[in-house]
Formats: sequence, structure tokens, C-alpha cells
Amino acid sequence: MEASPFPYQGPLEPAEVHGRDDLVADLVERVTSGRVTALLGPRRYGKTSVLRRVAADVTEVATVWVDLYEVTSMADVAVRFDDGLAATTGRFASTARGVAAGLAVNLGVVKVELTGPARNRPDPALAFHSLLQVLVNVASRHRSLLIVDEFSSIGRVKGAAGALRTALQDHYRDLGIVFAGSHPSMMRTLFTARPEPFYGQADLVEIGPLESTAVERIVGSGFASTGRDAGHLAARINAFTGGHPQRAMQLADACWRHTPPGTSASTETWAMAVTEVRRASADGMERLYSGFASGERSVLRAVARGGSIYGTEAGLLDLSAGSATHARQTLRNSGDLTELGGQLALVDPMLADWLRRRFPI
Ligand SMILES: Nc1ncnc2c1ncn2[C@@H]1O[C@H](COP(=O)(O)OP(=O)(O)O)[C@@H](O)[C@H]1O
Ligand SMILES: [Mg+2]
Repeated sequence: MEASPFPYQGPLEPAEVHGRDDLVADLVERVTSGRVTALLGPRRYGKTSVLRRVAADVTEVATVWVDLYEVTSMADVAVRFDDGLAATTGRFASTARGVAAGLAVNLGVVKVELTGPARNRPDPALAFHSLLQVLVNVASRHRSLLIVDEFSSIGRVKGAAGALRTALQDHYRDLGIVFAGSHPSMMRTLFTARPEPFYGQADLVEIGPLESTAVERIVGSGFASTGRDAGHLAARINAFTGGHPQRAMQLADACWRHTPPGTSASTETWAMAVTEVRRASADGMERLYSGFASGERSVLRAVARGGSIYGTEAGLLDLSAGSATHARQTLRNSGDLTELGGQLALVDPMLADWLRRRFPI
């Protein structure tokens, strides 16, 4: 089967990242000049993809990639840093092995040690500390880039952010550092609230939706390079998704699969694609929706219809002003709601679409 030019699951390969040139250039400039940066944006906006591209572009620099997705304990954090260090290659890796040996750290086997027999088990906080010593020691000899993806989860592990800050703070010149995270408010708190170890330690950079011209180019060239014509699809995709990167790609993929080689996408193509993506996501939407508190559900419904969360429109949903305000804050914190040009909007256009169809009033 012909591979789709529109992958929509998981991060993209560096060469597949388009429409993010300014952001990539800004991040490359930041990491090469040693400015610590936090990259904020909702889930599936392309943070990991952009950072992969940055890592690939700074060829003279070794990248240590740490993924803190859903860490809940110091042992988790230590294991993820161990994974990141063990996955390095080249000169960084050989220096790291030497430094680690000197500190009695066995790179790549911390997980085994932390889950082994209790009496031999190292203290996770000490293991984390040693791994950080390896990292900063090697970084002082080779230009390196540390990427910590899904950083916001660190807030759940007591002492982890503090240990990381202490280890890194004297090495901001040796290391390019980017922290990325999908929970916008948690990320903001980690870098802007006074009691936090990383308070004031990073510049915040936001990743937004894809520009409509970028979607136009991505869709057009994906069709053209596979012998198809996208017709007016890009405009429809833009109107429906508002540039949400993953949803735009998912819809482009569905349209593409309904367009045989040598033909042009049409209005029917679009209708079939939307129906298909709706069907594929319906179960997930149902589950997602039932996980929201009742005030949150009402706010989501009101915002999906473009209505106010206060006043008569909200009255139909039986929503008090107090609970509307509270739910709005929770939903912004969780990255489900965003503000676009002063207007509240759902981050996920498929969820907005599902709500409008499921709850016509
Ligand atoms: N620059 C881009 N161009 C087109 N699609 C993109 C782009 N960046 C991300 N995407 C889409 O979004 C999906 C998720 O990207 P990912 O980098 O994993 O997001 P995040 O890390 O923010 O959750 C990708 O599978 C792809 O479909
Ligand atoms: Mg990601």
C-alpha cells in the first residue's frame, strides 16, 4: 500500500517538519547561544516534532533527549535520564561512559538496578544525582543540547525539579536546554511561580497552530508528490481545524486516501473524509467527555457553539457564573480550552465538532 504523505500519529521525522521555519530558527539560535527555553503548546501541536528538527539541525552538538511523560516517582525520573544518556552516540557517548564508570554509574542499567532486589537497590535520588553529574560533566567537554520533553510531569515528583535546577544552574553556558510541555498552566507555573526551582530560569516560547499558508503548502505538495491534485481541500481543512496540526494532517490523510492517483479531490472527497474521521474519533470523544466534571461539560458545549459561557446562552445549560469561571480555568489549565484573538475556543476541532453534533442546542 502506498504510504500516506500525511502522518498523523506520533512525532514527525525531522525532514517532515514543514511550516515551522521561524520557530525552528528561533530555537536553534536559542540553544546555540545558551538561552534556556521552555516550549509551551497544547498536545499534538508539533512540539516534539519541532524539537527533533532542532536536534537534527544543530549537527555539531550532541543531543540528550529525556522524555518525562507521566513520571510519578524519583525512580521514574532517574530511569528517563538514564535512557536519555544511554541513547547518545559518538563522542558524547564514549565520554559519558568513561565519566559514568568513574562515578560508579552503569549507564543504561539504572532501571534494572532500581527494580532489582530491595537490599541492592540504589536510592533513586542518589541515582538521579549521579546521572546529572555525568550529564553536566560531559557537557562541559562537548557542546551539548538537553531536551526535556513532557517536562510538566516533573511537578508531581517531589524534589526532582530542585535537583535538576541545582545540577544544571552552573552549566547553562555548556548546554543548550529546552523544556517542552503540553500542560500550559503547569509549564507556566514551573517557570514563573516564585517557590518553583526553575522560577525565572527560562524564556517561554509558545507554539501556535499552523499558519493557513503552511497548511496550504503541506496539503498541496503531499497530493502533488503522489500524483494527485488537492483542489480546494486546504481551505476546507483550514476552516475546519483552525490550523490544529494533528487534526489537519488526519483530515488531509483521509482526503488523500479517498483520492485515487491521477485525480483531483472534490467536495465529495471532503465529505467522505470528515465522516470517516468523525466515526474514527467518536468513541474516544464519548470517553473523553464523560471524564469532564459537569460544569466543564457545560462550558465545553457553550464554547463549541461559539456562545458565551455566561448569561442567557449559558442559562440554557444551567451554569452559574461561579462554576463557569471555575470550569473555564480548569479547562485552560488542562489545555482543552485556549484563547484565540480574545475569544475562547476549544483546542481540538474534532471535539468541538463532536459536541456541536451530539448536543444540537
Ligand atoms: N510541522 C508540522 N506539519 C504538519 N503536521 C504536523 C507538524 N507538526 C506536527 N504535526 C502533526 O501533529 C502530530 C503530532 O505532533 P507531535 O510533534 O507529536 O506533537 P506534540 O509533541 O506537541 O504532542 C504529528 O503526527 C503530525 O500529524
Ligand atoms: Mg510530544
